[in-house]
Amino acid sequence: MASSVVLASSPLPRHIGIIMDGNGRWAQRKNQLRTQGHLEGLKTAKKIVKAASDLHIQFLTLYVFSTENWKRTAEEVRFIMGLVKQYLKAELDFYRENRIRIRHAGDPGGLPRDIVRELEEACEDTRSFEGLQVILALNYGGRDAIVRAVGRWLDSLKKIEKIEKKPLEKRVPVKITEEGIRSCLDNPDIPDPDLIIRTAGEYRTSNFLLWEGAYAEYYFSETLWPDWTEADLRVAIAAYQQRERRFGGSKP
Ligand code: FPP
Repeated sequence: MASSVVLASSPLPRHIGIIMDGNGRWAQRKNQLRTQGHLEGLKTAKKIVKAASDLHIQFLTLYVFSTENWKRTAEEVRFIMGLVKQYLKAELDFYRENRIRIRHAGDPGGLPRDIVRELEEACEDTRSFEGLQVILALNYGGRDAIVRAVGRWLDSLKKIEKIEKKPLEKRVPVKITEEGIRSCLDNPDIPDPDLIIRTAGEYRTSNFLLWEGAYAEYYFSETLWPDWTEADLRVAIAAYQQRERRFGGSKP
């Protein structure tokens, strides 16, 4: 049944972003610890990565840990970081078999060293794979990503200032452009998300892909993330395929 949902004749989203929400509520409803919800959430993430790969989706960004999630208890933060480490280590054979490339979005500066090492290794080991690209948004915030992009731009101007030995204020003013900012984002080569999914009945962006999601189609699901299945992904994609995207233009 699930396999018949996606419409063969309409284009698939090239890039899907997912705000995986509801792990805590899933656990609380079952009288379990919140950490159990994250464990189930990880299992779901694995299933959805496989489903997206089988559907030949090109990019999948998963919102794993935001710049605001540090406000959670130290125990919960430690648990989520442990899951990330486990995921990066244990799934290497799966990425290889499915030619899945792992990438990172977010500030590595604020992450524990061992996580950064695992992330770098997974990104390096899978760099040449031409299948689905899974972008783990980890210590990621949309505002922070824009601030860091502008910082990179400023750094490059300072380098020019050094080479040309001409202070910035004496140079022809640099034109600030969208393309310029985009080129300084974490992953400038990745196309904007076409579809952003949020689970667990919340209707907000929570600082996810603020710049890149300007013209994304949003899909909200009432289902808690640990209960999500391939069928839910297909229903979301089918809903996307019914949308008319005008990017601010008018109906032809
Ligand atoms: C939101 O649910 C979920 C998170 C902040 C953590 C997401 C992490 C995982 C799914 C596991 C790691 C995944 C990978 C791919 C490495 P919540 O805790 O805010 O739920 P609630 O709103 O019900 O409390």
